[in-house]
Amino acid sequence: MCDFASGSPSLLAKDLVREATMEMLSMDETLEGEKHPLSYGVPGGDPVFLSVLAGWLTSMYGRETRREDLMITAGASHGLDLVLGTIGAEQKSRSRFLVFVENPTYFKAIKTIRDRLCEVVAVETDDEGIIPSSLRRTVMNSEFDVAALYVIPTFSNPRGGTLSEKRRVEILQICIENGVKFVIEDDPYSMLSVRSRSIKRLVEIPSHDIVVFSLGSFSKIVAPGLRCGWIETRSKYWNQNLRDNGVLSSGGCISHFTSRILQTAIQRRDLLTGHVKMLRREYLRRGELMYSELSKHIQDVDENIIIRKPSGGVFIWISLPEHLDANVLLKRCTNSREGFSPVKFRCGNLFSPSGDFRHCFRVSFSKMDDSRIIEGSRRLGHELQIMNNEISSGSPSFSSRL
Ligand SMILES: Cc1ncc(COP(=O)(O)O)c(C=O)c1O
Repeated sequence: MCDFASGSPSLLAKDLVREATMEMLSMDETLEGEKHPLSYGVPGGDPVFLSVLAGWLTSMYGRETRREDLMITAGASHGLDLVLGTIGAEQKSRSRFLVFVENPTYFKAIKTIRDRLCEVVAVETDDEGIIPSSLRRTVMNSEFDVAALYVIPTFSNPRGGTLSEKRRVEILQICIENGVKFVIEDDPYSMLSVRSRSIKRLVEIPSHDIVVFSLGSFSKIVAPGLRCGWIETRSKYWNQNLRDNGVLSSGGCISHFTSRILQTAIQRRDLLTGHVKMLRREYLRRGELMYSELSKHIQDVDENIIIRKPSGGVFIWISLPEHLDANVLLKRCTNSREGFSPVKFRCGNLFSPSGDFRHCFRVSFSKMDDSRIIEGSRRLGHELQIMNNEISSGSPSFSSRL
């Protein structure tokens, strides 16, 4: 099976985790109380770990991250849920809480937002990401008591696009001018950049009168099983508010044990930085391979097929002519065919709150090695060619819709 559907990494940092865990446990006699890795830990994160993390993020982003702006989560998904839950808890009952999202956006975030009883409102995107004029129009035409913008500005899931700094500033300004008080920046991929210097994150851009929460994660840069990430916000009030959460006050630091492993990995021999640099090189190579294989096999099927070249992250977004349905293509690619392996990918409509983008699909190069990338791209091209021929010849056996 060529699994181009999953965005989870195959390059898990096993050696790093093993080494750092042994080292951390060998020091355990020198640690007491809440500092001990097997204790509850401090809600929001051990202050020493937060300082170490702030220093590391400062070196990775090339701009200052302050310890007091950080708190530890169980990953970006938990960060999103915690932020929405905390904002919701501040509101009067029955207030209308809207969350504006990119269309398409990360499909599991749509579920998390709806689970928190917020209404999802789709905003148009282009290759870069959310379109400022569309955001302004959508917000101005919406009625709400409280509103947030949920956005993946860097190497977005699923389109892979990155917002320019100019657009980031514009988007924050639109939120400020139109009463969208909260911006949630989901940012698990910005460290997987091929550039040496990353674009300013939204949380780094001055934005008075609104609160920006940036959701970071170790899932894509170390291993998702660690369940460890962070929230960065420059608002002292909201940083405290997030920590006052009942689950954290009862359970202490979420992911305390793994945060201490990560602390050791950062402090000792800078294991973590070396691993992230290796990932950048490897994903750059795999991304280029997949882009060139896809171009070779599917570009000729129809001149209107668009394959977006990745500049970081782990996804490639492919747009077919509107008459070609990616759901039909997926069904064909997962059926057995002699001489080919099945291929899985994610269809575009999955990422759309309104079910748009049936003619698009997302492939990921995070999990498969070179031979699977080559094999899967060949199968995709083969099935797409047959599908296109059947449609062109008006074959009665073919239905373009499922
Ligand atoms: C945009 C986005 N946010 C969050 C996540 C999940 O991150 P975590 O494992 O840190 O919860 C993913 C994983 O695919 C993602 O693509």
